[in-house]
Amino acid sequence: MKAIVYREYGSPDVLEFQDLEKPIIKSDEVLVKVHAASVNWLYWHFLRGKPFLARFMSGLLKPKNKVLGIDLAGRVEEVGANVKQFQPDDEVFGSTSHGCFAEYVCVSEEEIVTRPNNLTIESAAAVPGAATPALQALRDLGKIQPGHRALINGASGGVGTFAIQIAKSFGAEVTGVCSTSNLDMVRSIGADQVIDYIEEDFTLDGQRYDLIFDTVAKRSFTDC
Ligand SMILES: NC(=O)c1ccc[n+]([C@@H]2O[C@H](COP(=O)([O-])OP(=O)(O)OC[C@H]3O[C@@H](n4cnc5c(N)ncnc54)[C@H](OP(=O)(O)O)[C@@H]3O)[C@@H](O)[C@H]2O)c1
Repeated sequence: MKAIVYREYGSPDVLEFQDLEKPIIKSDEVLVKVHAASVNWLYWHFLRGKPFLARFMSGLLKPKNKVLGIDLAGRVEEVGANVKQFQPDDEVFGSTSHGCFAEYVCVSEEEIVTRPNNLTIESAAAVPGAATPALQALRDLGKIQPGHRALINGASGGVGTFAIQIAKSFGAEVTGVCSTSNLDMVRSIGADQVIDYIEEDFTLDGQRYDLIFDTVAKRSFTDC
């Protein structure tokens, strides 16, 4: 199979388009033919091995996984004997630790879900990494409820744009904080109010919220 491979840390020049062996599934794995994979800023750290701390995840001296890429969408090609939830030709999306900038990748059942028909392959591949922390923060940690007043700081970013839409889907009244040029976009994805952080400090305007999700950790807990 074709894959984008790197064997040493460096600039994008270390990436090579190469032939690799097609992966072989274990009994509890699913082989997915990758149709779309998204690019996350995290891979910039994994590609360069910088900051050095990133190497505790990507490998100390050289990359331990020669294929980058975590979030993907594609079609199930083959399933292991113990796989219960999927069968060949299922359309799926999810995340993998095995690298998905490749034609095929082996994933566990827990790493993928069925792709709904109303989500394009490309959109599905952009969901997992950024949407999951938004869902975890709002639903699991924040216990967001209909009617809650929620504020999303960093509303125009990867995590923030999902957070706005997820908070709205829970029936919350949502305020998004971002810079001037992104106010209209944040409104367009559902924010009831928007605050321009360049002009205004949301911690000083007298408003109170049931839930504040600071996606960018720009404000202290006490300020919030
Ligand atoms: N993206 C992922 O897949 C992912 C996954 C897990 C964890 N995370 C973590 O989540 C955090 C956010 O990541 P992201 O991908 O959403 O970042 P991002 O796409 O770079 O977005 C950053 C956002 O922060 C806003 N911002 C910058 N300065 C601000 C300030 N002083 N006050 C309020 N907003 C400010 C920017 O708004 P303007 O552009 O309008 O200035 C932008 O909307 C990071 O710590 C990241 O490590 C991200």
